Amino acid sequence: MSASASRVLHSLLDLSGKTALITGASRGIGASTADLLAMAGADLVLCSRHIHVQETVNHFQERFGQKPLVVRADVSDAQAMWHVMESARERFGGIDILVNNAAINSTVPLLEADEHEWLQVLQTNLIGIARLCNLVVPDMMAKRWGRIINLSSNLGQFALKNKGVYSAAKAALMQLTRSMALEWSGYNILVNDIAAGAVNTDMSANTEGSESFTRDYSQITRSILLGRMADPKDIAHVVLFLASSLSSFITGQSIVVDGGASIWFAH
Ligand SMILES: NC(=O)c1ccc[n+]([C@@H]2O[C@H](COP(=O)([O-])OP(=O)(O)OC[C@H]3O[C@@H](n4cnc5c(N)ncnc54)[C@H](OP(=O)(O)O)[C@@H]3O)[C@@H](O)[C@H]2O)c1
Repeated sequence: MSASASRVLHSLLDLSGKTALITGASRGIGASTADLLAMAGADLVLCSRHIHVQETVNHFQERFGQKPLVVRADVSDAQAMWHVMESARERFGGIDILVNNAAINSTVPLLEADEHEWLQVLQTNLIGIARLCNLVVPDMMAKRWGRIINLSSNLGQFALKNKGVYSAAKAALMQLTRSMALEWSGYNILVNDIAAGAVNTDMSANTEGSESFTRDYSQITRSILLGRMADPKDIAHVVLFLASSLSSFITGQSIVVDGGASIWFAH
């Protein structure tokens, strides 16, 4: 490849001068996404409930020569997320790219799903996202540029035993993505979601009590055309694509990243 072609390609993925807020950045898909967006030059604001603040700052300083803002915060806590945004404004002047990645799992038969289960999942996996977007979007509107990437799931489209609560929240998030895309399109704010299939993280490892998601990974991989679970990096790559100028004509879409599992009737 010529040097000029390489420069053009690099510029398409370059996030220098942009600030990305990634929720749930302590592990799994969020941590992998944070590394990749740092590599692309973005400044980072990272949060989760138990994230190791100094360890995380050191990691990014050593690997990428940049100092992220790292905050312990629960996305379902309105006050805590308001403080995250205020600190982000103070340090970086606002957020350009919002990756709504944090979520909790739920594996329970619908007849056993009590009010507490429903509220906890909806507060974290749906309402917290809507609230955070409302905090971030006014700054994006002022800049007339923004990217919002919601981590949904292919379980937002398909039913799986004992995943009714989780699936309902993810299906609602996919619809919320479309509504946000519609309402904010005039400000060049692109909103998309990634409907991931089974990804090799703590979330899938800890899912018990459902028929397809068990610790027996061979059972999961049998239902995936590509014959393996996703690595967190497989999902992070699509986040980078949606954050970059490569995706500048895509909004309101669910990008399915499940190794072909959802098109296969046989499983
Ligand atoms: N793994 C899969 O198979 C799969 C499939 C489809 C979609 N997804 C979606 O992909 C996203 C990431 O999943 P993952 O597999 O990487 O999960 P994970 O390994 O369980 O990581 C979840 C992250 O979210 C954080 N988190 C959870 N609740 C939070 C809260 N209330 N406030 C702030 N942070 C919170 C966790 O950190 P703390 O514990 O420190 O808060 C952690 O950093 C989720 O939206 C998930 O639904 C995953």
